[in-house]
Amino acid sequence: MCGIIGYVGNKEVVPVLINGLRKLEYRGYDSAGITVLNKNKLILHRCAGKLINLEQELQKFLIRGKIGLGHTRWATHGKPTRENAHPHTDCKGNFVVVHNGIIENYLTLRKKLVKEGHKFNSDTDTEVIAHLIEKYFKGDLLKATQRAVKDLKGSYALGVISTLYPGKIVAARHGSPLIVGISEKENFIASDVSAILAYTKKVISLEDGETAILDFKGVKFFNSCDREIHKNSRTIEWDPMMAEKGGYKHFMLKEICEQADVVRDTLRGRICLEKGGVFLEEEIGWKKEEIDEISRIFIVACGTSYHSGLIGKYVLEDFAKIPCEVDLASEFRYRNPLLRKGDLVVVVTQSGETADTLAALREAKKKKVKTLAICNVMDSSIAQECDYVVYTRCGLEVGVASTKAFMGQLVVLYLLGLYFAKFRKSLSILRIKQIISALLELPVKIEKTIEMQDIIRDYAHRFFRKSDFLYLGRNVNYPIALEGALKLKEIAYIHAEGYAAGEMKHGPIALIDENMPILVIANQGKVYDKILSNIKEVKARDGIVIVLATKGDRKIAKEVEDVFYLPKTLEILTPFLNVIPLQFLAYYIALKRGCDVDQPRNLAKSVTVE
Ligand code: F6R
Repeated sequence: MCGIIGYVGNKEVVPVLINGLRKLEYRGYDSAGITVLNKNKLILHRCAGKLINLEQELQKFLIRGKIGLGHTRWATHGKPTRENAHPHTDCKGNFVVVHNGIIENYLTLRKKLVKEGHKFNSDTDTEVIAHLIEKYFKGDLLKATQRAVKDLKGSYALGVISTLYPGKIVAARHGSPLIVGISEKENFIASDVSAILAYTKKVISLEDGETAILDFKGVKFFNSCDREIHKNSRTIEWDPMMAEKGGYKHFMLKEICEQADVVRDTLRGRICLEKGGVFLEEEIGWKKEEIDEISRIFIVACGTSYHSGLIGKYVLEDFAKIPCEVDLASEFRYRNPLLRKGDLVVVVTQSGETADTLAALREAKKKKVKTLAICNVMDSSIAQECDYVVYTRCGLEVGVASTKAFMGQLVVLYLLGLYFAKFRKSLSILRIKQIISALLELPVKIEKTIEMQDIIRDYAHRFFRKSDFLYLGRNVNYPIALEGALKLKEIAYIHAEGYAAGEMKHGPIALIDENMPILVIANQGKVYDKILSNIKEVKARDGIVIVLATKGDRKIAKEVEDVFYLPKTLEILTPFLNVIPLQFLAYYIALKRGCDVDQPRNLAKSVTVE
């Protein structure tokens, strides 16, 4: 998730770009850059790190111009260095591109372009776009861009300018957000309205496959067949803070609602139904013998990442048939783990900076075993120190309570399981294909689940005064019960416990009375009948039962009044959907109790102390 802005008009462009980038910095701050076109000369400044670094560099120069592009980066392909910072140019520096998204086929395109004589200066996927435009340019920047994007697979929101086509910005979109801002004698492009709200409230969203060309006088829009179309503008009424959160009240809510895209982006380029496989060669690239050699996997993490690791155990054991242990990082490092050749330590972390996880990783490295990180922040300490990294592609997570990062971690853990299964032949090709196709269907099912959030909000309004909650799940959904309880504790400050439903009779059942809401995860599958028995036990003790069940389950409706129905998916994939209503429940209860959802008390986003 990067942020892009473009301006053409009668103002000096640099302050417009910098103001816009400040508003977009929440989308990523690995590096920032701008380009300005002045008298057919392109001026380009890029810096690694936060926007402030770029601002300091720009103070040394007097840059004038009325057209330009800006970018703030959340690294996905290529380290967060100056060379990989946007904007990117073609061989001769005539075409400049800013991009938000992921180009899946960039390696193939890059190889082809290199053969044709193009010279590359970065490791990014974006640079291929600049070279493609150079290749296809025959005097018309719009046509060249329209032709270039036809070669791309993946997602993109693009801004393009050229010395050979002065006074114009070309924009294109597929799968990543892009809006056009309209004003008197000036027009804008931006990743979201927050970047341009200070200048105009009139905006038009580009849809997938559409392109646009802007100059200071106006904007023309084109559909995916490159035919000119008319588009109506809308007026944005959000205040600047709301705009930064995309119109959502809180970052947490926004991030819960981004989870379908997280799954899409994290799968992108790594999974293919036709080829029946998962492709992590770029990140891992181990030979079959190396994968066969893995005798045990240790997953190590903290908090929410630990919960995704617990699910990873079920998945890796089921898919790859490799024994797997999961440890809290703070425990792992002090228990002198008996690691030996053939062990693989997988650390799971959103930030890549969690002190306990970093220390656990160092402990593993000291014992000379292979280490792999599942991480969201590129080039973070853990990503750098680990032997291998598979990145989640969640973009920046701002809300302190982790939501979308958990979703991204699940995706990578499932991919890892399938990747190992492919080499170890521990699953049939048919089963691998079945899981892949169910994974590909998940984003739409996640969207459907998110659309039903009002039902959960009603539960929240009924139960927000309760002081204790119990969450029950079995098998692969036991960690989801833990995660649901953690979310409620951390943002609503309510005591909540997650339990393996079968453990209830060994103690927690004593807690149940008519005041205790109990969330039960009861998808259809191999543990369904067992969970039904647990529900009956709770009801016999007058507990308040709310059930997450599979759409079409008539049996459950006879037992329980409050049922939230989730779309049907493979039993092993149900955690992806079950976690969403529990995130919403915590969010809406916290809201009703007046808690600070995005910055809960006593917590920090990145825990860099022991
Ligand atoms: C809970 C939460 C924390 C983190 C934990 C690990 O919502 O955010 O429990 O999951 O501090 O952080 P990372 O994943 O950055 O290592």
